[in-house]
Amino acid sequence: MLVLLLSSCTGTEVRERISFGTDWKFTLTDQDDYKDPGFDDSGWRKVYLPHDWSIEGAFSDKHPATAGGGALPGGIGWYRKSYTVDKADEGRLFYIEFDGVYRNSEVWINGNYLGKRPYGYSSFRYELTPYLHYGDENNVLAVKVDNSKQPNSRWYTGSGIYRNVWLVTTGDIAVDYMGTFVSTPSVSRDSALLNIDTKILIRSEKGDNISLATSVYDARGNKVSSAITEDIPTDDTSLTINQEMLIEDPVLWSDTNPYMYRVVSEIKKGKNIIDNYETKAGIRHFEFDSDKGFILNGEPVKIRGVCNHHDLGCLGAAINNRAIERRLELLKEMGCNAIRTSHNPPSPELLDLCDRMGFIVMDEAFDVWKMKKSEYDYSLDWDEWHSRDLEDMVLRDRNHPSVFIWSIGNEVMEQWQRDGSGEAIATELAGIVRALDDTRPITSACNDPYPHNPVITSGALDLIGYNYHDSSFVKFPQTFPGQKFIAAETTSALATRGSYDMPSDSIRRWPIRWDLPFYEGNDDLSCSSYDNCSTPWGSTHEETWSVIKNHDFLSGMFIWTGFDYLGEPTPYTWPARSSYFGILDLCGFPKDAYYFYKSEWTDIPVLHIFPHWNWTHGTDVDVWAYTNCDEVELFLNDESLGTKKKDNNTFHLQWRIPFEPGNLLAVGKNNGSELIRTEVSTAGPPERIIMTADRNNIRAGGSDLSFITVTLVDKNGVPVPYADNMVSFAIEGDASIAGVDNGSQVSMQPFKADHRKAFHGKCLLVVRSGQRKGTVKITASSDNIESVSINLEVQ
Ligand code: GAL
Repeated sequence: MLVLLLSSCTGTEVRERISFGTDWKFTLTDQDDYKDPGFDDSGWRKVYLPHDWSIEGAFSDKHPATAGGGALPGGIGWYRKSYTVDKADEGRLFYIEFDGVYRNSEVWINGNYLGKRPYGYSSFRYELTPYLHYGDENNVLAVKVDNSKQPNSRWYTGSGIYRNVWLVTTGDIAVDYMGTFVSTPSVSRDSALLNIDTKILIRSEKGDNISLATSVYDARGNKVSSAITEDIPTDDTSLTINQEMLIEDPVLWSDTNPYMYRVVSEIKKGKNIIDNYETKAGIRHFEFDSDKGFILNGEPVKIRGVCNHHDLGCLGAAINNRAIERRLELLKEMGCNAIRTSHNPPSPELLDLCDRMGFIVMDEAFDVWKMKKSEYDYSLDWDEWHSRDLEDMVLRDRNHPSVFIWSIGNEVMEQWQRDGSGEAIATELAGIVRALDDTRPITSACNDPYPHNPVITSGALDLIGYNYHDSSFVKFPQTFPGQKFIAAETTSALATRGSYDMPSDSIRRWPIRWDLPFYEGNDDLSCSSYDNCSTPWGSTHEETWSVIKNHDFLSGMFIWTGFDYLGEPTPYTWPARSSYFGILDLCGFPKDAYYFYKSEWTDIPVLHIFPHWNWTHGTDVDVWAYTNCDEVELFLNDESLGTKKKDNNTFHLQWRIPFEPGNLLAVGKNNGSELIRTEVSTAGPPERIIMTADRNNIRAGGSDLSFITVTLVDKNGVPVPYADNMVSFAIEGDASIAGVDNGSQVSMQPFKADHRKAFHGKCLLVVRSGQRKGTVKITASSDNIESVSINLEVQ
């Protein structure tokens, strides 16, 4: 039981916000009396939040979510938490904040109903104060989560309180929830004007002498500007104070220098601080130009983005800061500088990380409006909830410097209607956004890219967003003279890590028909990684990038997708249960296309050759190289197979050679001198396991993770491309297994287990720290292979 010892109102730290994720009880059953404080939940399971119960389940095509929703269970679950509140805190205001609950959450405190929230991606809060007991008597929070009516999504959603929960305590005059708006109406290299709106909630008429002091601190903690508003009237229940201040010589935020400031708002009564609230902010200016594309701080920047769904592979939808950070690190290393939060508001943590790491975000509200895409989706809640959900997204996210574009919808069905609904809804939604933030352009991701599309003819969009239709991209200036463009979604190329279908230069557009099950004779339900497989409405990676790269007016693109995700297993269906679209697989292991982008999007020397070198003697094998060198010479067993040269629009180099076992070596040269070399060798049978942790030092406390790549190698250490050995894991020390995976889209093994088969030579173990510090030993073993251990330091 957590006992809250909150400081009384005498100090300066009068606002408290604590994580409220421990000591919850959970059941995947439903009874009306679960909300009653007296209900005996001692038999329920103890869980930590964030929690996703679906990811703990077994795959089946019988689950109502279908393979499209990840083939995992939904249902109705309840969470309960008991806690006490110190008597000394009577008189303070208590709130519970939920960053997101999927879906249809209902909350009670001590049997009192606080409210309902259908949309699983919205953040919301309830006030607890009037219902609390102080002293020894328990308070009981009960949360019902109903994800039983499925399908309600076109991808895996997860189920439960899958984002963070916070307990917030304030005095009776305090900054409101999501209560500040920091904007930068004029920015130059010499100075920036900050405009700050602060909404104050007033629950007492303590009258006089209330002031708001706002200070801005740079990244080193130096105060760089401040403003004070005195004699704030307290007659109303809330009021918004506007302040302006100048920052001299601002450091501008960009994708390459994501410089952050802190805005600290202090409400004072006389000299005493009675509330303090912090807003992170960044200073930048940007525009979309119909000729030059995206201009950030005066410089053209190509938006090199990916779309992602919110699941974190084997961790499911349960958000974890380190898991998101690792994904963003992998994307950054590839040269990616933008994220589209397809097709819903993201977790706050994702945006914090994008602020800090330099990603340009398209923040998206909805996948459907009033017309449905799946039977029980958000269209059913549309009338009652859409304006509230959209407002809350904008209020929550508008201070993030990483957010550059609001998207009011993805491929909404209304774009195909000729009944006025598309125009009307687009106009209404854009109006809601603009009333709260007119500093960012609004788009909608349209897959009808023609001028008659009512979402476009509404005139509500600042930025016309196309999904796919590369051939229409180039005609954009003629189709929409003077308008601004973003490729809101592109590509939908398909690949399974480590699968290669030859010939590599014939392109498969799969599925061939929508209305028939598609298997194409591929019993292993794989897609080729030669960038020669895409959906019919999509394109290969090279096809789209060659268009975007060569036209300045195309401000950039968001590739579908950065990572494989659970659900939507196109081009197949069950028993495939996760997607093939990722540049990285579900584990976060790069597919070959990762190096294509890295070679095009970074200046880091890249030379990646593939496929593996285990083929049948005499077969013709296509060898590809992704590189940013001028030329590459290829050698097979020390014999040169010739040099191939690259130019600006050659995206890969290719050799077709008869296979013979041995060693394939590529040497990359610039101006005739060697810059980089890479080799691939024929592997013998798997004889050893190599474990590589992304981080060997992690923090104690139960939320930090180490991602351990497990590779099966032969006796010489060469990775075995076909190895599928079962690997078992054991942990000594205070840590646990958060998940296991191997990136196969058709594996039926559970994600929560202490073993996993390798897939194409690799699997992943995710280890979660415990509460205690110390050394943790992780051992991997497999039949007929020597066990191996590594140590993690938990600090
Ligand atoms: C798009 C859609 C995405 C995803 C993708 C698959 O049309 O916006 O959510 O379904 O197709 O190719």
